[in-house]
Amino acid sequence: MKIFAVNGSPNMKKGMTHILLEDFLEGAREAGAEVETIFLQKKKINYCLGCFDCWVKNPGVCVHKDDMPELMEKARQADCIVIGTPLYVDGMTAQTKTFLDRMIPLVEPHFELVDGHYRHPPRSGRNPADIVLVSVCGFYERDNFDGLIDHMERMCRNMQSRFVGAVVRPSSYIFTLEKILGEQIKEIREAARRAGRELVEKDTLSPKVLDDVARDYLPKDLMLKGANDFWDKCIKAGKLLSA
Ligand SMILES: Cc1cc2nc3c(=O)[nH]c(=O)nc-3n(C[C@H](O)[C@H](O)[C@H](O)COP(=O)(O)O)c2cc1C
Repeated sequence: MKIFAVNGSPNMKKGMTHILLEDFLEGAREAGAEVETIFLQKKKINYCLGCFDCWVKNPGVCVHKDDMPELMEKARQADCIVIGTPLYVDGMTAQTKTFLDRMIPLVEPHFELVDGHYRHPPRSGRNPADIVLVSVCGFYERDNFDGLIDHMERMCRNMQSRFVGAVVRPSSYIFTLEKILGEQIKEIREAARRAGRELVEKDTLSPKVLDDVARDYLPKDLMLKGANDFWDKCIKAGKLLSA
C-alpha cells in the first residue's frame, strides 16, 4: 500500500498531531506500507481563486505556480491519503483546508448521479485514493471531532473516495504528561501503531482500535483543573511552557 500523509499542524514536529500521525504511520510501515509524509506548513500552497481555469481552460492544471502540482501527483499515485490535522475552531487547520481546496483539479466539472446525489467524476480513470483522518484536539470530549469527521465523510463522497475512518485523540496534551501518565501514553501510542497496521493488513480501522486511541484516562474534572493550572502558569510566565 502506498500512503501519502500530510501534516497540517503549524507546529509541525513540535505538535501533538505529529506524535499521533507518526505512530499511526509507523504501524503502517511495520505492516509493509510505503509511506511519504510532508508538512503542509513547509510548502507553498496558495489559496484557490475559484476561477475554474483548472476545469475549463487548462483541464487539470491550476493557474498558481506553487508546490501543489507535486503534491497532487503524490496524491494521484497514492492508494491512501492520510490527512493529519489538529482541530482548529471545530474543523481542520487553514493549511489543510487550502490543500484540499486545491485538489479540485483532480475531479472533472461535470455532475453525475451516484446513489441519488450529485458528484464530480474523478479526472484520471483511476479510483481516487482512500482517505484516513488523523486528528488531535485540546478539549476532553471525543464529540468535538464530529463536525470534522462529518466534513471528511462528505468530502470523500463528493470526490468518490472511500473514507476509511478517523483516528482521533482528544485531550491531546496528555502526550506531554510523560512523568505522571507514562503507561497510559504508551497504551495510546501503541493503539495508534496498531491502527496503522490494521489499515494495511485488514484495509479497515476497527471501532475497537479507534476507541483505544481516544480513550479517557483521567476524570473530566481532574483534567479540567490540570489544564487550567497549566494555563495560569503560562499566563504568569508570559509564554507557553512545556508541561
Ligand atoms: C486556533 C486554534 C483553534 C483551536 N480550536 C480548537 C477547538 O475548536 N476544539 C478543541 O478541542 N481544541 C482546539 N484547539 C486546540 C488544538 O486542537 C490543540 O492545541 C492541538 O494539540 C493542536 O495541535 P498541535 O499540537 O499539532 O499543534 C485549537 C487551537 C488553536 C491554536
